[in-house]
Amino acid sequence: MQDRKPLVAGNWKMNKTVSEARELAGAVRSAERPDGVCVVLCPPFPALVPVADALRGSKVALGAQNAHWERSGAFTGEVSAAMLVEAGCRYVILGHSERRRLFGETDESVARRMAAVLGAGLVPILCVGETLVEREAGRVREVLDRQTRGALSGLPVDSAGRMVLAYEPVWAIGTGRHAEPQQAQEAHAFLRSRLADLAGPDAAGVPILYGGSVTPSNARDLFAQPDIDGGLIGGASLDASAFLDIVRAAG
Ligand code: PGA
Repeated sequence: MQDRKPLVAGNWKMNKTVSEARELAGAVRSAERPDGVCVVLCPPFPALVPVADALRGSKVALGAQNAHWERSGAFTGEVSAAMLVEAGCRYVILGHSERRRLFGETDESVARRMAAVLGAGLVPILCVGETLVEREAGRVREVLDRQTRGALSGLPVDSAGRMVLAYEPVWAIGTGRHAEPQQAQEAHAFLRSRLADLAGPDAAGVPILYGGSVTPSNARDLFAQPDIDGGLIGGASLDASAFLDIVRAAG
């Protein structure tokens, strides 16, 4: 990692009831954590306000797992960025591969969500990553380029400098098969150079997180890579002690 501040975010996905979420947030809040690492918890929507309460006065930040592009209206099942601001969020995960694969999200819908999230003053955690078929076909760079450019299309040039990017190879998510540190570093270095093309010097400060089967045992080697600035953690973020070990590995 270079001089960008490391960031470790827990993506709880569709896990934890309100009481379970409160308990997990409390355990993360009260544990010893290295000062220099930003920690973000992304619980499911019903737990946002209770987790915000549990984190109040601490340095642990709150994030949501998605946001709609409109401020309000007839969009059953969706949540707006304005609602997330009032719930206490600072970050919003966007374009996660599960949203793309299971819920039909496209580069275009991700770009609309990006605009709304940035417009509300929130920080998007934009997820990009190739499938195994795309990797085997030698298309990693093409996919990362398309997803990154797609998500930023139509947005002001300074937008890229105000986001967090997460490289999440789809074949590594929830599979127990993480990318080798060198493999991840190559993708991160490519993303960093593309960001520089798209956003100029502002992009140098953008944290690029790695996500996909990060555990306490592989985190240190991944975070030791020069362009890996922390992690987006799924399964291992559901257990306070595993998540905190990963946070410490980023310190
Ligand atoms: P995982 O998920 O850590 O369970 O592989 C990561 C993610 O989907 O963000």
